[in-house]
Amino acid sequence: NILILDFGSQYTQLIARRVRELNIYCEIHPFNKLPENLSDFKAVILSGSPFSVRSEDAPHPDLSEIRGKKPLLAVCYGAQYLAHFDGGNVAPSNIREYGRAHLSYMKDEELFLEGIPSGSQVWMSHSDTIKELPTNGVLLASTADVTNAAYRIEGEETYAIQFHPEVYHSTHGKQLLENFLVKIAGVSQSWTPDNFVEMTVASLKEQVGSEKVVLGLSGGVDSTVAAVLLNEAIGDQLYCIFVNNGLLRKNEFENVLHQYEGMGLNVKGVDASARFLEALAGVEDPEQKRKIIGRVFIEVFDDESHLIEDAKWLGQGTIYPDVIESISVNGPSATIKSHHNVGGLPDFMKLKIVEPLRMLFKDEVRRVGATLGIDPELLGRHPFPGPGLAIRILGDITPEKVRITQEVDAIFINGLKEHGLYDKVWQAGAILLPVNSVGVMGDERTYEKCVALRAVESTDGMTADWVHLPYEFLQKISNEIINRVKGVNRVVYDISSKPPATIEWE
Ligand code: XMP
Repeated sequence: NILILDFGSQYTQLIARRVRELNIYCEIHPFNKLPENLSDFKAVILSGSPFSVRSEDAPHPDLSEIRGKKPLLAVCYGAQYLAHFDGGNVAPSNIREYGRAHLSYMKDEELFLEGIPSGSQVWMSHSDTIKELPTNGVLLASTADVTNAAYRIEGEETYAIQFHPEVYHSTHGKQLLENFLVKIAGVSQSWTPDNFVEMTVASLKEQVGSEKVVLGLSGGVDSTVAAVLLNEAIGDQLYCIFVNNGLLRKNEFENVLHQYEGMGLNVKGVDASARFLEALAGVEDPEQKRKIIGRVFIEVFDDESHLIEDAKWLGQGTIYPDVIESISVNGPSATIKSHHNVGGLPDFMKLKIVEPLRMLFKDEVRRVGATLGIDPELLGRHPFPGPGLAIRILGDITPEKVRITQEVDAIFINGLKEHGLYDKVWQAGAILLPVNSVGVMGDERTYEKCVALRAVESTDGMTADWVHLPYEFLQKISNEIINRVKGVNRVVYDISSKPPATIEWE
């Protein structure tokens, strides 16, 4: 187990993901809350930070429990922190050092730099620079602009680097992490999906015993993998509920339900479409729609779970990015959209929570899913928002609008699949706009709906860019939509990036 102390860098999660890619388990903890079981961690990595070490409100934790006692790798701010408080000197650099640089002056015999050729590209992102190394510092590498790009401390297993090994642009970054963790700290690379499944199934058996677990399936990757893991562990003690809110993709409810049954899951499909659509009738405000959907979902789920006598646990597909305590640099962030499914279900359900995926990143969830034999197509599905088509139908929702949006969406998504484009896109869908426009079909004037298509690339949904889909493809899809979907006479393609736009229109 590796400890990553977070000083608030935007790259901290990336460090964790790189370490996990080496099949090494790690956890992120905020710098001001050292975990109590410190002895369980074999090595420590200090992250970067948006702060300057010289600033008074910058993170200045006491590392006496760690320094010299465990192998330590300090990245960027971490490297400056070690220098600043231990006889070195950190000062503003004349130029802001940002972007690609190349390592030189390597001490070839160093284990730390083994397999990393001189000239290797690294990624810099800092405005302070280390002018003088700390006491007992030994210089290992420099770049053209940064003399003290990598150093170690004599007599300790402490290493420090000014650049970011975790970003893709540092071409030997993963090698460097492996050198530190495997060669220097002697950590074993046993964090594999197979081992995870084996360990998790065993601990779920112990945790849940002979009690019953209720779990809400959404058709998405996380809840599915969580269910299959629980199913491996406790079989028929698992009761899955899959709710149709009437705002799913075309035929999704039937198809996915069928797939779940095929996987041997004990699942009940509940068609509550009418209940959701009634509650939503006439409501135009997006946040209001989200709240209503959240509330009705809880009601339906509660009714259903009461039918399962004596259930003691609520299973959830929560994953690691939702669990990591984030360090707030700019104060609490404003609510842009209230995602109803963050935070789980309210207390009144009074069930104990079991979350088999809470320590996994999304890519690890997919790898675990593959190990469990889940259909690759299901594992590769685009994300789909909890409120579904409700936030893609701008304004109020009617059954007719749901039908139009489903038809258009199905043509678009199937088209992406048929043209081999689906896996190149992170998320895609159709948006029904609350405007009519004039068209002409045959000799007739039409006055019908306009739909927008949206396809984005992203890694986590936080930032996104529109995908440059081929014109021929857009042409074909547009024709197909207008010819086949009654009520639509115009198709547009959304070419906005996030920020400043968002992925969904509501
Ligand atoms: P935005 O529109 O904020 O979307 O750029 C980012 C990602 O979040 C999804 N999204 C939601 N997911 N409940 C959800 O479960 C919601 O209310 C919600 N709103 C947006 C969106 O589909 C994208 O993947």
